Amino acid sequence: MSDRIELDDESTNDSGNPHFSELIDQSLASPTRRQWLKGGASFVAIAATSATQAATPAPAAVPRLAQPSTPARLGFQAVEKTVADRVTLPAGYTYTVLHATGDRISTALPAYSNTGIETDDWSQRIGDHHDGIELYYMDSNGRYTTRDTGRAVLAMNHESSADSHFFHPNGQTSGGVSGKKFHQFGNWDLGDRPGLEVLKEINHHGVSVVELQRNGNGYTYKIDSGYNRRVTAQTTMRMAGPANAMSDLRAMMVTRWDSTGATSRGTLNNCGTGSTPWGTMLTCEENWARYFGMPRGSGAVDAKTIASRRRYGVAHQPIAADAKRAMGQGWHTPADLPDTEFRFSRWDVSARGAAANGSQDFRNEPNTFGYNVEIDPLAPHAAPVKRLTMGRLAHEAAVCSIPEAGKPLAFYMGCDSNNEYIYKFVSAAVWDPADVGRGLAAGDKYLNEGKLYAARFDADGRGEWVELTIDNPKIKAFSRDGFTFANQAEIYVHTRLAADAAGATKMDRPEWGALNPVNGEVYMTLTNNSTRTATRTDAANPRAYLDANGKKRGGNANGHIIRFREEGGPTGAAFAWDVFLFGAEADMDRASVNLSGLSPANSFSSPDGLWFSKATGILWIQTDDGAMTDKCGCMLLAAVPGKVGDGAKIEVVNQFRGETGRQSTVIGAELGETHLRRFLVAPPGAEVTGITETPDGRAIFVNIQHPGENTSAADRAAGRFESRWPGNAGYGPQGRPRSATIVITRIDGGVIGL
Ligand code: FEO
Ligand code: CA
Ligand code: CA
Ligand code: CA
Repeated sequence: MSDRIELDDESTNDSGNPHFSELIDQSLASPTRRQWLKGGASFVAIAATSATQAATPAPAAVPRLAQPSTPARLGFQAVEKTVADRVTLPAGYTYTVLHATGDRISTALPAYSNTGIETDDWSQRIGDHHDGIELYYMDSNGRYTTRDTGRAVLAMNHESSADSHFFHPNGQTSGGVSGKKFHQFGNWDLGDRPGLEVLKEINHHGVSVVELQRNGNGYTYKIDSGYNRRVTAQTTMRMAGPANAMSDLRAMMVTRWDSTGATSRGTLNNCGTGSTPWGTMLTCEENWARYFGMPRGSGAVDAKTIASRRRYGVAHQPIAADAKRAMGQGWHTPADLPDTEFRFSRWDVSARGAAANGSQDFRNEPNTFGYNVEIDPLAPHAAPVKRLTMGRLAHEAAVCSIPEAGKPLAFYMGCDSNNEYIYKFVSAAVWDPADVGRGLAAGDKYLNEGKLYAARFDADGRGEWVELTIDNPKIKAFSRDGFTFANQAEIYVHTRLAADAAGATKMDRPEWGALNPVNGEVYMTLTNNSTRTATRTDAANPRAYLDANGKKRGGNANGHIIRFREEGGPTGAAFAWDVFLFGAEADMDRASVNLSGLSPANSFSSPDGLWFSKATGILWIQTDDGAMTDKCGCMLLAAVPGKVGDGAKIEVVNQFRGETGRQSTVIGAELGETHLRRFLVAPPGAEVTGITETPDGRAIFVNIQHPGENTSAADRAAGRFESRWPGNAGYGPQGRPRSATIVITRIDGGVIGL
């Protein structure tokens, strides 16, 4: 958000991979204004229900998985820009709160105080920073089914972070002072932290699973369900990868806690999600890199480890003698509680022990984070599995291709930091619909053996998936600061370096992806990039400018959404791409910044969450913005997608910080206010994160993350908050703001968005 140190706005990609600015001379035939290609795709009208039509249309009118189609139009009035401290929806829509940070998931606990007085019981409370969500229905045997059986669990990521000032009585303690506001980006002021604070923080990270129950038009959760579960930063997990690389992989995961490297503990900063066709959740570890410390005077790690840690932003040298603050959370520092099972010391990642393999310390602990973690939401006692073959990144969502019997599955993934890459994993096994409901055993079949690729976007509107394999001569020959690849296992653990070597394209912070169920095209948000300059752009990341009005940001301040169509299906090596939408303030220059012709009714900035409704075919766009928040809170927009190639080639003139640069790109058909509308505005300080739906499209679940997060320490102490939501909307104790899941329905019971 605007005033915080933005966690993802970091740049650890010091590779020499080009920004392809030289490719501007490969000038595409480029009209300065693209054509208006109305409609674009072959829009198939469906029997939609508008706010003025019958309240209870037949369920058969709503297309589902089997035959999804693109809607003809959007059926709600756009929400105007607002900074009101509420969730604002279109007329005719309403919401209820399903649960909020701190709500209990067991009747053994007292209700949440919202004053920070809880003790270490967060592993039985809803975690913090609600993020990606997925819904799983079960049949009468408790087995996963895509049918709406009336019985379901909601699985949720808790991105958390360490801006945990609302969970302690007076904010976090840093440098021995309580009440400090410090962020996960590393402004911990040294000194020992209280053990109870650290335990609360460790346990509000991770994932929650709750069983839903219908309540009129909406939903509540069952406090006493046996399906309720928390996975935290200390839950035991299994490490899984390709059979022929497992011994090399385990060697990199050896710790004092598990000297075999077969298991690890915990998941961190879970942002986007994915659902597998067999009915499990993939929870994606994003900003895990900032949780580790190397105390003053601790043992140095080797040059190869330093090179890799630098590339990921992990602590790689002991804190300097004169440093006043350091990266990390200080989770390794508590001295007031016992270090049971190394629950604190595991976060000290220096080389303290004599054993060079790491079995006497936690130097390898960072190697155990940065993965997609598979969880079976219907098997509450099954240990989560880290799927190492999908690479180690700042993982965003993992989006599966449309499953086809007898063909491999592809998963699309972003890595969210400035100038990072887009990736694809293709399974070796071919899809068998009989695996639906087989849980983690099916995961072992599809997610351990396969190929990993990074994307290169070329100036001609095409691109290539470059395989990350030790047989790639560029990877084999790669050498940087003492780092070379010894084997395939190292590619899974040091994936960013392998993609550097392979020549992937540096993108404007890849966030979530979404797959159009109508045609299989993949959409990915590129949220923004503060490091773009007028002369360092490329066709796929073509803008650098100064954002106007209020909060002014530079580079690609407002972000864009790219999409691609695989050539040869999900396993193909090449694709065609264009830019679906460019974020912008409505009054920015049409020829260089507001390229998608956004108006006050649909202007947005920093697209982040992205999700296709299978019920309606609507593409939902969520923002995590700091550039427009002076005028409007973060938002959820509905878009009617066209298809790759429905627009035109254009030329962008970038004038920024005294430099001028030109870039050609390919942009999709302009949507206008008929095909792109603002649906929801969140309270101040919040971003809009996860989203999912009931199969009939009549209820959507949406997450409002970290309302009021820009509240200063002084204001917090005085009881003044940037936001008081959801307490001010009648949910739970008043006062401190809380992340929450809302269930949105139409007052007339109709389908959302149409
Ligand atoms: Fe967790 Fe990159 O958003
Ligand atoms: Ca602005
Ligand atoms: Ca996000
Ligand atoms: Ca974000």
